[in-house]
Amino acid sequence: MDLRLSTGPKALLSLLILITLELPAVQMAYNIGTGIADTTGPIAEIVFMGYAKIDQRGAGLHLRTFARSYIIDDSENRFVFVSVESAMIGHDVRAMVIRKLQEKYGDLYSEKNVMISATHTHSSPGGYNLYMLFDLTTFGFIKQSFSAIVNGIFVSIIRAHDSVVPGKLFVGHGEVLDANINRSPMAYLNNPQFERDKYNYDVDKTMTQLQFIAADGRPMGVINWFAVHPTSMNNTNRLVSSDNVGYAAVLFEKYINKDAPIGKGDFVAAFASSNLGDVSPNTRGPKCEFSGDECSSSYTCPGKNEMCFASGPGKNMFESTSIIAHKLFDGSMRICMIK
Ligand SMILES: *[C@@H]1O[C@H](CO)[C@@H](O)[C@H](O)[C@H]1NC(C)=O
Repeated sequence: MDLRLSTGPKALLSLLILITLELPAVQMAYNIGTGIADTTGPIAEIVFMGYAKIDQRGAGLHLRTFARSYIIDDSENRFVFVSVESAMIGHDVRAMVIRKLQEKYGDLYSEKNVMISATHTHSSPGGYNLYMLFDLTTFGFIKQSFSAIVNGIFVSIIRAHDSVVPGKLFVGHGEVLDANINRSPMAYLNNPQFERDKYNYDVDKTMTQLQFIAADGRPMGVINWFAVHPTSMNNTNRLVSSDNVGYAAVLFEKYINKDAPIGKGDFVAAFASSNLGDVSPNTRGPKCEFSGDECSSSYTCPGKNEMCFASGPGKNMFESTSIIAHKLFDGSMRICMIK
């Protein structure tokens, strides 16, 4: 089910090269742009994509979802990275975004240089992927979901395009502790000892951050990547939400944009998805629902009529979303030159 990333190979390569450059400052000058737009879509009646639970339909709003776009241009090649707060992005969403871009800008943007990545929130309306399996829980295509995501991505790229100025990129890394756990630690132990010996933890604790700063010193945005599932909001939630990473993005944007309404400021902060496969934000770990006992090795509560699920660190899912978001935000600030 891992279709979070949809990109041309060349675009991916340029981004990876950029990220692996360990220099404190990339000396080359770029033209850079950032933009944000709303992708929230229908907040009632539509089944959420993520937990694949047919009775988990929208019944209100917790946190709006956004698309955040970044343009990097070295005068020879232009590259667009978009992080969108949805469960995953399929081929057709990207194809439609590119078609709209080409109507507006000719061949400046194409499948070769537009990369769209989903944060993997489990609390946004589904039905937009045009794949049988992914659109099964919504009983087919939901035009309102599709249009909101496509238009939001498209508008965020237009805003990034219109904001392009000379600027610099900075890469930073840092550890963020107590914000993620392995959701299957027993399976992890099947990895050979020599391999496990290479790491201090059974999940990745490193956050990598790319900062966008205009030549005149104005902070334009950040993208960071930290391995954690946006599943602080659990499968009983019926409020559309960008979850922990979306909340963290809002904290960062508010910090720089001050009083601008959420999603309207110039500074754009994306907390994008990375190697989050087996990584949970529910740091209290799996426990039996009523007794609070440890679950069995197969994550069940044998002999008892109760579920085994992970939760925490807060007293409910709203508090957990906020606590994880603040940890991510604090982590991103520690490796940030924008203060
Ligand atoms: C979801 O979180 C709520 C608290 O916000 C809790 O009452 C409920 O048991 C949790 N359910 C699952 C399946 O995680």
